[in-house]
Amino acid sequence: KMNAFISGLMKKMTVDEKIGQLNLVTGGMAITGSVTNNGISDGVKKGAIGGIFGLYGTDNVRKMQEAAVKGTRLHIPLIFGLDVIHGHRTIFPIPLGMSTTWDLALIEQAAHIAAKEATAEGLNWVFSPMVDIARDARWGRISEGSGEDPWYGGKVAAAMVKGYQGTSMKNADAVMACVKHFALYGGAEAGREYNTVDMSRLSMYNYYLPPYKAALEAGAGSFMSSFNVVDGVPATANKWLLTDLLRKQWGFKGFVVSDYTSLNEVSNHGLGDLQTVSALALKAGLDMDMVGEGFLTTLKKSLQQGKVTQAEIDMACRRVLEAKYKLGLFDNPYKSIDPQREKTEIMTEANRKAARITAEHSFVLLKNANQILPLKKSGGSIALVGPLADNKRDMLGTWVIGGEWEKSVSVIEGIKHIVGDNVKINYARGSNITDDATFMKRLNFGPGMVWLDKQSPEDMIEDAVKAAKKSDIIVAVVGESQSMSGESSSRSDISIPESQQLMLKALAKLGKPIVIVLFNGRPLTLTWENDNAAAILNVWAPGTEAGNAIAEVLFGNYNPSGKLTTTFPRSVGQIPLYYNHLNTGRPYSTGPTKFKSNYLDISNDPLYPFGYGLSYTSFGYSNITLNKTKLKGNETLTATVTVTNKGPYAGEEVVQLYISDPAASISRPVKELKDFQKINLQAGEQKQVTFKITPQQLKFYNSQLKYDWEAGEFIVQIGTSSADTKNAKVQWAK
Ligand code: IFM
Repeated sequence: KMNAFISGLMKKMTVDEKIGQLNLVTGGMAITGSVTNNGISDGVKKGAIGGIFGLYGTDNVRKMQEAAVKGTRLHIPLIFGLDVIHGHRTIFPIPLGMSTTWDLALIEQAAHIAAKEATAEGLNWVFSPMVDIARDARWGRISEGSGEDPWYGGKVAAAMVKGYQGTSMKNADAVMACVKHFALYGGAEAGREYNTVDMSRLSMYNYYLPPYKAALEAGAGSFMSSFNVVDGVPATANKWLLTDLLRKQWGFKGFVVSDYTSLNEVSNHGLGDLQTVSALALKAGLDMDMVGEGFLTTLKKSLQQGKVTQAEIDMACRRVLEAKYKLGLFDNPYKSIDPQREKTEIMTEANRKAARITAEHSFVLLKNANQILPLKKSGGSIALVGPLADNKRDMLGTWVIGGEWEKSVSVIEGIKHIVGDNVKINYARGSNITDDATFMKRLNFGPGMVWLDKQSPEDMIEDAVKAAKKSDIIVAVVGESQSMSGESSSRSDISIPESQQLMLKALAKLGKPIVIVLFNGRPLTLTWENDNAAAILNVWAPGTEAGNAIAEVLFGNYNPSGKLTTTFPRSVGQIPLYYNHLNTGRPYSTGPTKFKSNYLDISNDPLYPFGYGLSYTSFGYSNITLNKTKLKGNETLTATVTVTNKGPYAGEEVVQLYISDPAASISRPVKELKDFQKINLQAGEQKQVTFKITPQQLKFYNSQLKYDWEAGEFIVQIGTSSADTKNAKVQWAK
C-alpha cells in the first residue's frame, strides 16, 4: 500500500519538488554550527523543504505544516525534528547517566516520556539515540552515549528506539528515532572533536558497529551520518558505509540524514567542491541534507550534467516520503499538533517523578569509607559547599534544547526538602566552576555559560572553610558544568577544574569528612579525591529533578545501585583505557615489571573499572555452579551464583556475566560482557541468579569478517564488576 501510494505521488512530482524533499532546514538558532537557513516559509511554500528542525510548539509547527499541506501543489507534509536527547521538557539524566542505571525498562520509559512531551509540542522526529562507542573520556560526547561496551550499548539503543517509536510510529505520541552518528564518531583520535577516525574492520565489526545494528534491528526509522571519515572517506559520502553495510548487509529500510553541514564539510575533508560532494553523497546513499543546502543547490545541475541519475534522486525522495508515510503524516499531518496535549502532557508530576527515579538509579557510589553515607536526616550540621550546590543552570547537562533550567531543582533545595530544619546547613559557594580565562572563553560559546562570583577566589575558599569549621561534615558539590561535556567539548585534562580543587584541598586540611557529590559528563581523573574524600557519589548531570534525586540518595531514601559503563582512568596518559582490551603478547599482571606491557610511572589498572559501583549495603557472591562443563553444538550452558545481601540495607545489585575466549583464530578481549540481571535484595536476603548461555553469545567477527563461534575453552565470569568476578571454565565443542 505504501509503495503504491508513494509511486503515485512521485509520478506527479517535478525534479525540483523531489529535491526539495531532501532538504532539511533550521531557522534562527545556530546551536552547533554557524550556518542557519533563511526564507524558510517561502521555501516551504515552494516545495523546496522536506523537513524543519529546531522548531516546536503547536502554534509554530501548525503554521509551517499548513503552509506545506495547504500551500503547496502536492500537499506533502513536513517532518519536524529536534535534538531530544535525554528528555524534551522534563530532563532526565544525560545518556551516559541513564546507561549507568542498567535498567532498560527505565531507559525505555524515559525515551517514551520524551516522545510524549515532544509530540505534545508538534515534533515527530528526534535525533536520538546516540550510540557511538567511546573509549576516550577526553571526547566530550562520551556524555551522550552509553559508554564503552558494544553489547550493552546495543541493549540501551534498542530500549530507546522502542521508547521513542512505541508500538507504531503512527501513534500520536510516537516519534521517529534517528540513530547517530553513523559511524565510529566515538573513535576520534586523541578524543578531539570532529577528528580523524582510523580503525581496522575487526575493531569496527566487533566493538564499534554493534550498537548501530541493534538500533536498526529494534526498528529505528532513520540514521544520521557522522562528521568523521571511515576508512578515509567521510561518512556522509561513504558508499561502503551507507549502502553496502547499512542497506545491503544489514537491510536498513529507512532514510539517512547528514549531520549539520556535514555534507558541505566533505569538501573540507578534501573530496571536491559542493556540487561534486553532493553528487557523491547522493550516490553513496545519503537521503537528506541537514542545513547545508548542497542537495538543494546542486543536484538538478548534476542531473542535467549526467553526474547523478534520476533514479538516484528518486530513491532518496522515496525514502523520505516513506518515513512521512510510516509516521502517518499523509493520513493526518496534524496528528501531533494538539494544543490540549501541549497544555496537559508536559512537565507533569508523573514525568518529573520518573525523571527523579531514573536519576537516583543512575548515581554511582565510587567510594564510601566507614559507611559515612547515608547521612543522618536529623541532628548535626553539614557544610554544603561548591559551585554546583546552589546552582540550577548546571543540573540538566548537555543537549537540553527544550529544557528550562529555571525549573530544575538545585542540590541545596533538594537537601532542604528532605531535612527541613532538622539538620543545620552551612552553605558557601567556595569556588567558581573554573577561574581559567582561556577555558572559560571556550566554554562560554553557546548554551551553558559559566558564571563568575563577585568574590575573589581566596575569599570564596575562606568562606567555605568557615562553613566547614562550624559543621560536622562537608558535602562538596563539584565537577563539570553543563558546557564542559557534549559536542565540541573535548578536554585534554579531565580532572576537576583547579579552582574547585584548591577549595577541596583547603577543606581537606581541616580533617573533617568530605563527601563529594560529583557532577560530570565523562569519567574524570580522581586520584586525589579518591585518596582524600570519605565518599564520592558520581551523579553525572541528573536533569530536572537533580537536587531531589541527590538528596534522596545522600539521606538513604534510595540506596545507590548504578554501575559504571565507562572505565575511569587514573591519568589521562592511560587513555584509551577500556575493560575489553586484548591480552597482548606481554600482558601486565601483578604490577609493573620490565619488558611487560605497562608504564614506568603508573599502574595499568583503572581507578574505577567498568561495571563498578558500590551500595550502602554489601553483596557476597558464591562460586559459580554450572549445569555441565563439557558442551557440544547448540546446547545451553547454565551458570548460577547465589548473591547475598550482607549489609544492613535493602539494595539492588547488577549481577554481571562476562565470558572470555582464551584460544581462538584471532586475539580476543580478556573478557566481554554478555548479560546482566539487576536484582533487589532485602538485608540478609539471598537470591540465586542463573544465566543461560548459548553459542550465539560466543560469536565474533573473525579475520574474514565471518560472524561465528569457535570451539574450545571459555571462561565464564560472574560478579559485581568487570574486575571482581567468580570464574569457571567450560569446554565447548562444535
Ligand atoms: O543532532 C545533532 C548532532 O548530534 C550534532 N550536530 C548537530 C545535529 C543537529 O543539531
